[in-house]
Amino acid sequence: MSNFDAIDWELNPRPETPDFTAMMERTNRRGFLGMTAAAAGVLTFLSGSRAGAADKASPSIGFKAVPASAADSVVVPEGYEWSRLISWGDPILPGGVAFDEQTRGTGATQALAMGDNNDGMSFFPISDGRGVIAVNNEYTNIEWLYPSGKPENADDVLKGQNAHGVAVFEVVRRNGRWQADPNGQRNRRITANTPMVLTGPVAGTEAVKTSADPSGTRVLGTINNCANGMTPWGTFLTCEENFNGLFGATGDFEQTAEQKRYGLNKKDWGYGWPKYDKRFDLSQEPNEANRFGYVVEIDPMLPNSTPKKRTALGRFKHENAEVVVNKDGHVVVYMGDDERGEHIYKFVSAGKYDPANPRANRDLLENGRLFVARFTANDGEMKGTGQWIELAPGKNGLSAANGFATMADVLVNTRMAATAVGATTMDRPEWVAAHPNGGDVYVTLTNNKYRGVRPNQPIDGANPREKNPYGHIMRWAPVGGDHRSERFNWDLFVLAGNPMVHRRGLLGGTPNINAENMFNSPDGLAFDPDGRMWIQSDGNYSNKGDFAGMGNNQMLVANPVTGEIRRFLTGPVACEITGISFSPDRKTMFVGIQHPGEDKKPSTFPLGGVPRSTIISIWRKDGGIVGA
Ligand code: FEO
Ligand code: CA
Ligand code: CA
Ligand code: CA
Repeated sequence: MSNFDAIDWELNPRPETPDFTAMMERTNRRGFLGMTAAAAGVLTFLSGSRAGAADKASPSIGFKAVPASAADSVVVPEGYEWSRLISWGDPILPGGVAFDEQTRGTGATQALAMGDNNDGMSFFPISDGRGVIAVNNEYTNIEWLYPSGKPENADDVLKGQNAHGVAVFEVVRRNGRWQADPNGQRNRRITANTPMVLTGPVAGTEAVKTSADPSGTRVLGTINNCANGMTPWGTFLTCEENFNGLFGATGDFEQTAEQKRYGLNKKDWGYGWPKYDKRFDLSQEPNEANRFGYVVEIDPMLPNSTPKKRTALGRFKHENAEVVVNKDGHVVVYMGDDERGEHIYKFVSAGKYDPANPRANRDLLENGRLFVARFTANDGEMKGTGQWIELAPGKNGLSAANGFATMADVLVNTRMAATAVGATTMDRPEWVAAHPNGGDVYVTLTNNKYRGVRPNQPIDGANPREKNPYGHIMRWAPVGGDHRSERFNWDLFVLAGNPMVHRRGLLGGTPNINAENMFNSPDGLAFDPDGRMWIQSDGNYSNKGDFAGMGNNQMLVANPVTGEIRRFLTGPVACEITGISFSPDRKTMFVGIQHPGEDKKPSTFPLGGVPRSTIISIWRKDGGIVGA
């Protein structure tokens, strides 16, 4: 994973907090971006004096930091406890059977059980003490899903398809502790085969017609559901990310430019779907892939409702969908496209949110305008101004002549439209999170080995590190606090790094990174209502070389006012921490432990046997608000 030589951690004396002056001198010596000014930009932010809508109220962060850990367990701060809520394979529908360590289930049993690789999730209250969790099941670890380590027949593929999608299950509080209710009336599995509809400008167009669906409106399934969003009208947004990996070609295949941009190739990623399900065979159904890569809206309270693919929000490798109701009532959805050198987007609804008439809001995501971000750095600084560029035919150079005659053309090939208008290529945009003050918006840029390497991904103020091994978090504030504004100001909240290995220079991270809180590859990102920012990592867990001392993946809390970052949780071996939600009283937090033991790494989390993706609940022994 790392291209860097291993450094013997024990032989390095423990340095002080990074010397920022020396860091500036070093970067100046390298002639990098005139870094005195750049560093000053970060310092300006860290002292809290920046233009923007953020209020200055600091959230309390009351727990004692946990140290880095390489253990095969979850560690939470003193005074906290955690418990397993649900794991891959646990039954949630009538007829389901308990997880079988030997067979690990069949296509039929998996359809009735929690899917694999839980990711983004939301909690929807029903009553005091009862709620619904909707959670994504992003993909499968075939090395654990199948006893032989790979799919070998049609039922294996069906099992894989049924381990994808979304799980909806009720949770109930008993004796103060939340538990999954396998008998909940709203429990539901949405899989790669669940009927759903395409809505918005792409629905019914040629690009999405297939032999099974000549109408181009009725799709089976949602896949590679990464992170999420939650609307104020009570629906769950699930975001289709690496859908390309499930497609392949068994026959003749000549890759088009569009297929290349979306990573659709002759070979799938080992899941075996094209061989057993012709929908995923690009040589038979080339348009099927145009029906994935969307944000899908689901009503978690109605188990028989039909999920809606919202094509107006664009087609790309959607990470999450952060919903903001602008002060004028328009709904703005911020979204990242997680691939090296891809972009950050926002959707602005045509209609306005009406809190007095919930039903009137149900289709606000069907029509609107889509924009992509361009970041301009102030001279030599890691901060600057930005512009949202609209993606629509007839605007910003998009026209029939370059392949964008209709809005559907723009949306099906959103990535290519973004390139055509000069969007900034980013270091893998993951989650976007809006501060509850209504002003600032943050995004994790997880890492990017192509930065400064590929010509379309030059080093710039917004993506300032060559090969960016650690990732960073950027934020922007729309001008006037108006999320419909096409202009914004931005800066960097943190450059993750390893100040113990890199005592000088940008790889040591910004001054809010130290030996006690270092991490790499920020991914999950969410605010709680008090303004604590929760950061989840999906990074290199080798604990060696550039990553020495960071341990397993983890979750941290940041104070956006002071810049302080404190480690809250460490996960088991080879996991990613992803997915976060709270009970309404915020005395319980739900956190996702994804793919412990991936690639056959030595994990037996959570129950001592086959490693299984798991949602845990976390609470304070004294009954207080988590994090405070
Ligand atoms: Fe599914 Fe970009 O993480
Ligand atoms: Ca992610
Ligand atoms: Ca990631
Ligand atoms: Ca993941």
